[in-house]
Amino acid sequence: MTKKNYFVTTPIYYVNDRPHIGHAYTSLACDVLARFKRLCGDNVYFLTGTDEHGQKVEKSAKAADVTPQALADANSQHFRDLTQIMNISNDDFIRTTEPRHIASAQALWTRMLANGHIYLGSYSGWYSVRDEAYYQESELVDGPKGKMAPTGAEVEWVEEPSYFFRLSAFGDKLLEHYAAQPDFIGPDTRRNEIISFVKGGLKDLSISRTTFSWGIPVPGDEKHVMYVWLDALANYLSALGFPDTSRPLYKDFWPADLHMVGKDIIRFHTVYWPAFLMAADLPLPKRVFAHGWWTIEGEKMSKSLGNAVAPQALVEEFGLDQTRYFLMREVPFGNDGNFSRQGMINRINSELANNIGNLVQRTLSIVSKNCDGKIPVPGAFNATDKQILSESDAILHIGEEDKVGSLSELIHFQSFSPVMERILEISTKANIYIDSQAPWKLKKENPERMNTVLYVLYDIIRKISISLQPFIPDSSSKILDQLSIPLDQRSFAHISSEFIPPSGTALSPPQPVFPRFTEQAA
Ligand code: MSP
Repeated sequence: MTKKNYFVTTPIYYVNDRPHIGHAYTSLACDVLARFKRLCGDNVYFLTGTDEHGQKVEKSAKAADVTPQALADANSQHFRDLTQIMNISNDDFIRTTEPRHIASAQALWTRMLANGHIYLGSYSGWYSVRDEAYYQESELVDGPKGKMAPTGAEVEWVEEPSYFFRLSAFGDKLLEHYAAQPDFIGPDTRRNEIISFVKGGLKDLSISRTTFSWGIPVPGDEKHVMYVWLDALANYLSALGFPDTSRPLYKDFWPADLHMVGKDIIRFHTVYWPAFLMAADLPLPKRVFAHGWWTIEGEKMSKSLGNAVAPQALVEEFGLDQTRYFLMREVPFGNDGNFSRQGMINRINSELANNIGNLVQRTLSIVSKNCDGKIPVPGAFNATDKQILSESDAILHIGEEDKVGSLSELIHFQSFSPVMERILEISTKANIYIDSQAPWKLKKENPERMNTVLYVLYDIIRKISISLQPFIPDSSSKILDQLSIPLDQRSFAHISSEFIPPSGTALSPPQPVFPRFTEQAA
């Protein structure tokens, strides 16, 4: 079987801020996808990084009385640390202040210019430094301090010489593309929003600034720095070695399979970015998916409220996989979510500890005590055994991995939630099965039946743990270790029952993997 190449990217994060769970969420979703695709046997390239230029970073650096480069160095490191803290399996981490990126962004500019899509003019209009975005007068709303952006950000009036990109010429081409590639934007609500935005008409876009200097110089006119969004979007190409399109990395992975973004930046990725690429005669990414927004205990996360939740604090208190599990499980992917401490505790206790953890712990401790710590020799399966085995195979689509409704198809379209629900459903069924079969009572009465029941449970736990690896990699591998599954037998190609290790294989003593969370007394 030939491996499929799959290139997935996170947005590159601004270095004016410390990482919080919003950033962790996007990177985590990409990580689950990347790990899932690798388990399917695909050849994955997973990119993340930091967005380091622009007025916002320059302003934050001034306020902190450091150079923008020093601020970028310090904060970029925090985002790099985040990948360790959250166990993110990225293959590269790009910084927009790296020479490889600067050369690449300039090459992109040069191609767009050579194709006649850039001209010199002057910009006068509204700009929001927080959003790093231009706004039309008609988009502004009234705020407590006068006019503000629809996002609530402050705006300032800007007048300066500027290069423009002929975005207005790309409206029809973009609409044709959205129509021809219905999967280009997900979820559908966002797709519809973007289509109506483009149908409303596009204006040419200012793509250079002259009133500050923290940016990539415009080739041939160095008084200008490139608009930070053009600079930032180019990261997806520069990490692959563009403009050297003969490099294997570029040839294997461009166009990207998925740009994962938050809903706040969908317009930049599905209007500006494909138009820039069309202008440069480069292939367009296959899909952009915008996920929802997290609030904290019902409130917007913001610097001024000081309520941003640091991923490290969650991991320290609740555990790494517990944090990963909660973030992916709490809300259907694509919807907005609310982080609450109680919500986190409930998920950990009811699903990880009481459901999956309990199933694994009960089964493996009976095997340890009653089967000499070895995979038992099963007798013939009865109707109940056959039913639970075939139900779990049907729920996981085992043997039908490429078909509609399979886990891999759901994950391919970012439907993480139904995948987690299905795995839990099997665990719930297996807990009902263990209660009804009560293997702990069978040791004396019918040891062969006990062995059969434990064998069935062993196989189901094996399948659950293989499927959970992308979400909770460390805990799944602890369970797979306890099941004595060899490292090279943990992919989806090895999930079916024919890959159960032979009866008699020794298992290591069971260790609880998902402890219950109890609040410490104050
Ligand atoms: N630098 C730009 C992106 C350039 S990509 C070429 C940027 N950076 S950012 O630091 O502001 O990060 C934005 C991303 O972080 C969002 O798109 C989203 O993925 C994630 N989130 C930031 N806050 C979030 C929440 N409150 N909730 C969910 N995700 C959030 O925009």
